[in-house]
This record gives sequence, C-alpha cells and structure tokens, in this order.
Amino acid sequence: MKFFSKRELIILTLLFVLSFVPVVGGAIRILEIAGGPSVAPDNPRISNDPFPALLHLLGAIPFCILGAFQFMPSLRRYAPKWHRLNGRIVAFSGIVAAISGLWMTNYYALSIEIQGDLLYVVRMVLGTAMVLFIVRGVAAIRGRKISQHHASMTRAYAIGQGAATQTLMGLIWIALLREEPTGLMRDIMMTSAWVINLTLAEWIIRKTNNLSVSGSVS
Ligand code: HEM
Repeated sequence: MKFFSKRELIILTLLFVLSFVPVVGGAIRILEIAGGPSVAPDNPRISNDPFPALLHLLGAIPFCILGAFQFMPSLRRYAPKWHRLNGRIVAFSGIVAAISGLWMTNYYALSIEIQGDLLYVVRMVLGTAMVLFIVRGVAAIRGRKISQHHASMTRAYAIGQGAATQTLMGLIWIALLREEPTGLMRDIMMTSAWVINLTLAEWIIRKTNNLSVSGSVS
C-alpha cells in the first residue's frame, strides 16, 4: 500500500517547492550565524543581533516543512500518533517563528525601503494572528473541535507560508522588471502575498467543511 495518495504527493511537492528558497536561504543563514561561511547576502541587522533571527529561522524551517505533512489526510488517518507528535513540534516552532518575527519587525533597524508603515502594521497584525490561530487550533483539538482545529491551523500555516509566496513574487518581480522592489511597492507586494495565501486558506477551509457535511471526509 502506498502511504500517500497521488494528490497528496502533488500537494506536498508544491509546498516544498514553494518553501524551497526561504527554507534553504534560512538554513544557509543559520550556518553563517553558527560560524560557517558567509554565502547569504549581507544583513547588518542579523550580524549585529543574530539571536532573534536564529530563533526565527529555527522555528520557521520546521514549521514550513513539517507543517506541510499535517495537512495530509492519510497521515491523520493511518498514523494519528505521528500527526499528534508532529503537530506539537509544528505548533511550538510556529509560535517561536511568529514571536521572533514580531520582535524583529519591532526592534530591527529596518529602513523604510525594506519595511514601511504598511508592512510594519501588516506584520504586527499577522504575526500576532499566527500565534493566536496556533493557540486556538491547539485548544480546539483538545476540545475535540475538529473543524475549528483544521480552520485555525490552516490560517496559521497560510500566514507562515507568506514568506514563501513573498519570495516567489519577489523573484517574478525581479525577472520582469530587472530590479528589486523597494519602499511602498515592496510593502504592497509583501502584503499581497499574505492576501493570496489567506484567500486560498479560506477556500480550502470552506471546501473541507462542505466535504465533511456531505460525508466524504473522515
Ligand atoms: C513561518 C514562516 C516564515 C519563514 C520561512 C520566514 C523566513 C525568513 C527568512 C528566510 C528571513 C531572512 C533572514 C535573512 O536575511 O537571512 C526572514 C526574516 C524576517 N522575517 Fe521571517 N519568515 C517567516 C515568518 C515570518 C513572520 C510571520 C513575520 C512577521 C511577524 C516575519 C518577519 C520577519 C522579519 C521582520 C525578518 C527580518 C528582515 C530583515 O532583517 O531584513 N517572518 N524570515
């Protein structure tokens, strides 16, 4: 018996491809902070104050990679213990990633070219929402509220994966316009990536709810 269905494997592959650049970029930065070679572009904020970035990346990488498996129905059905154990790691990692992200948003000396007022507010709101959705998702599953658990975790994951959609949009931007987005245009691009992810999350939540009402989902 194959563990994952073809559809699940496609979704996992898409999520891994989407996460590739921020996850690999983050791993390279972790190695650099740990004393390895400087391969990633210079980031003076991280050189001056590496600890929050280190926590951020140590939380964000497992959140994106291990988190993808949590959405696979086969894992929930055939390996519920694994889903529970992995879920605890993903929830903890997500909270660490979001809180350290909030800290950097607030305290790193980010110039207006990198983070204007719009991006500041959006990051503060969505970083906080990510923590609250994870906490609500964990509380929901303890109370056996399955659809609330699924909805909260899907929303938290969509916010976390904003980093991946932002990277993809940034790469498309550079390919088309031959320059990096800065200032307000960058804020708008970063915000749009989150809008796309959250819209997709709402669509998935509705679709799953409709399927469970019609009895097609266990
Ligand atoms: C959970 C998924 C996330 C991933 C995979 C991720 C990934 C990354 C990566 C790769 C970096 C760049 C570090 C470097 O320059 O080497 C970064 C920086 C940063 N992230 Fe995240 N991030 C995530 C979530 C968030 C969230 C939710 C927020 C907002 C609250 C956030 C705010 C920041 C900030 C402010 C920086 C520093 C930017 C700078 O100094 O230029 N991140 N993140």
